[in-house]
Formats: sequence, structure tokens, C-alpha cells
Amino acid sequence: MALVNLREMVYHAYRNHYAIGAFDIVSLDFLHAVIGGAEAQCAPVILNLVEHQFHLYDFEILAAAAVCAARRAGVPVAIQLDHATTTDSVLRGIRYGCNGVMIDGSELSFEENVRLTRRVVDVAHSCGIPVEAELGHVARRVGDERPGSRDQPVYTSPDEVKLFQRRTKADFLAVSIGNVHGQPVGRGQLDLTRLARIHALVDVPLVIHGGSGLSDAEFGCLIDRGVAKINYYTMLSTVAARRIRGNAIEDRAGAYGTLVNGVREVIQQEVERCLALWRAADRADAVLSEVAPWSEVEHMIVYNTIDESDEPVLDMMAEGRRVLGNIPGVRRVVTGRAVTKDAKYRYCWLVRFAHAAVINTYRDHPAHVEFANTLFRPRADNRISIDFTEVNDLTDRERDTTPAPIAG
Ligand code: 13P
Repeated sequence: MALVNLREMVYHAYRNHYAIGAFDIVSLDFLHAVIGGAEAQCAPVILNLVEHQFHLYDFEILAAAAVCAARRAGVPVAIQLDHATTTDSVLRGIRYGCNGVMIDGSELSFEENVRLTRRVVDVAHSCGIPVEAELGHVARRVGDERPGSRDQPVYTSPDEVKLFQRRTKADFLAVSIGNVHGQPVGRGQLDLTRLARIHALVDVPLVIHGGSGLSDAEFGCLIDRGVAKINYYTMLSTVAARRIRGNAIEDRAGAYGTLVNGVREVIQQEVERCLALWRAADRADAVLSEVAPWSEVEHMIVYNTIDESDEPVLDMMAEGRRVLGNIPGVRRVVTGRAVTKDAKYRYCWLVRFAHAAVINTYRDHPAHVEFANTLFRPRADNRISIDFTEVNDLTDRERDTTPAPIAG
């Protein structure tokens, strides 16, 4: 299982002077190509699910596929919700499998950005999830697929970064220094002096969005100045679209399979090129041995009740699924009844937490306290519970899989 702690992964890159590629995935072709590229380069990688691209796919389904592919991958993989704009969106991202989130308050005033980011940091950290924030605003150009895209950049002010960092406690900081979303290569003009000042002021990994617009030579300069994560999409979309157009020209009557033939391969080639350029190639083994795996926790209770029939228990279960399923960090609530009537325990709850940090968050959450004290405990007088993480291979046998606590 190669789903790993995103915070530790990015800090590994920060300490060891390379950058993790964070590639947007918008379909299964992109997902396979990004993982394939990382495996070919033996590099750690981040899969980005981007809020403003949700019109292109069903988030819940692609997120589930990303989790499945990450677990199966031979390299360390993390999954980030990118450009979330609300706390609700962040909570949804965590629920469906993201183990890192980016909150984009870059179009707000400084004060509003601080307040939104801090709110998200508080709730995400209570779920063990790290947060990337953006200070300044990375502008959008024509290649950015958001409707009506094109706006003006606001460069990150070195005078604001320290205060922003202290007040928000974000884990990583996306900066605007001339990088632009959705731009053809080589059009930007990076302010590396500004980046160096920011790097000297805050000891957090810096993030560059708009990787597609940068020339090969610029990446090394960024990494040398504290950049440990690079977001990249437009060029992947460009090579994929070019391939589809080429296929259509070659075979005008071509069916779907003909039109998308080779798309994965060209995306993968571009991913491989980036990972090598960003010094991430051949880092997978070091990350796998030094970075904690990402482990969900299952909270399981088996119980009997004082009730003579199932009816009141089924009502309580329905209420529990509704109330408990909305607690931050809860990924799903399963309620069950034993198959045989003479089972030692007749009912169960299985509540999946995104991370071990959710054990305390859940226990102390007012909705849980109220439900447990008024509806569950008075009727479930006979119960046992366990919080467990999955043990499934030799690696788990050898290491303590207790997820590391999040800093901040
Ligand atoms: P590009 O599409 O310009 O590579 O930027 C991607 C990005 O920053 C996603 O957050």
C-alpha cells in the first residue's frame, strides 16, 4: 500500500531539495498516466483533484479510483483536493479520500484569506489533514479551463508572509511570483529575488502553481529557493488534446478507441519528463522508508440492546448514519445486523475515520456526544468497541503503523 502521508512527503522533498509533482487528474487516462509516469521514474507523486474541474467528472467516483490506484501503486502517492474555496468543499474532499487540501483564498482580502485559511486549518488538522494556502494570487490565462478565465496576478508580498503563516498555521504556502495558471511555456517572468526573500522568512515548503508556463531552466531555480511542490496540468491537457486531434486527422471516421489511442502514453511521457526535471526521480524508496503510510482507522462497535424488536434500533441507526456521517473526518458510517438471530452480538457500527486524529475529534464532537448519550448508550447496554487500522502486508508487520500526529 503506497498511499502515504502528504505532509511528510512534501517535507521530505523540502529537506532533500527536490519537488513533488502534483498533477491534476480529470479522467482515468490521466490517473493511469500520472501513476505510470511516477512508477517509471521511481518518484513520489501527488494526484490533484481540482474543485473547478468537477464539471469534467464525478468527484466521488474519480476520488475513489484515485484511492484505489494509489494503494496499488509501487511508488508513494498522496491525493490532494486543489483550489477548494469553502470549508464544506474541504470536508467533502476529506470524506471522499483526499489526504491533503488546498484552500484558495487568493481572491479575498488579506484578512478574509487569513480567516478562511485558519478555519480550514483548524478543521483539517483535527482530521490529521495538512493544508496548503495561497497568499497573493496566481493569475489565470487562456489555457486555464475555468469559465471566463483570465485575470490579473497579485504577487505574494514578503511583508505579509510571516504574519499570514503565524496566523493561519498552513502547512505549505503557494506563492505568486510571476507564475501563471494555464499559460504556454516560457511566457512568464519569475521574480526569484522575491521568492528567495519569502523562503528566508518562513520555514514551510513553498508551492508553485502554473508549472506548465515555466521553462525547464526555471525549475531548478525554484527548488533551490524552497519550492517543494509543483502543480502541473495545462501541458498534460495540451499533449492529450494534440494526440486526439492527430488521431482524428489520421482516421476521420475513427471510433472512440481510435481517437484516444496513445493519450495515456503522451501524458505519461510528459509526467516522466517533469519528475526527472524536478529531481524527484529515484526518490520513491527513500520516501517509502522515511514517510508514514496513510492509514484510515475503523471504529467498530458490536452491541445488543434492551429492545424487544428491531424497529427502535433501526430508527436509531438511521439517525446515527445521518448525524455521525457529518462529523469532520468521518468517511462512512455502516450500520449492521447479524445474519443469524443467535449471534453473540446482534448489531454493529462501523465508522471509518480518515486518520487516527479523528478518534478524538469524533469522540468529543457535540453531535456524537449528544447522540451517544441520549440515543445509543441508554439502549445499548451490552457492547464492545475497537479502533483499528488495517494490517495487510509484511511492511505493516515490521513497522508501527500508528499514523504520525499532525503538527500545528
Ligand atoms: P498549469 O495548468 O498552468 O500547469 O497549472 C496547474 C495548477 O497550478 C493547478 O493548481
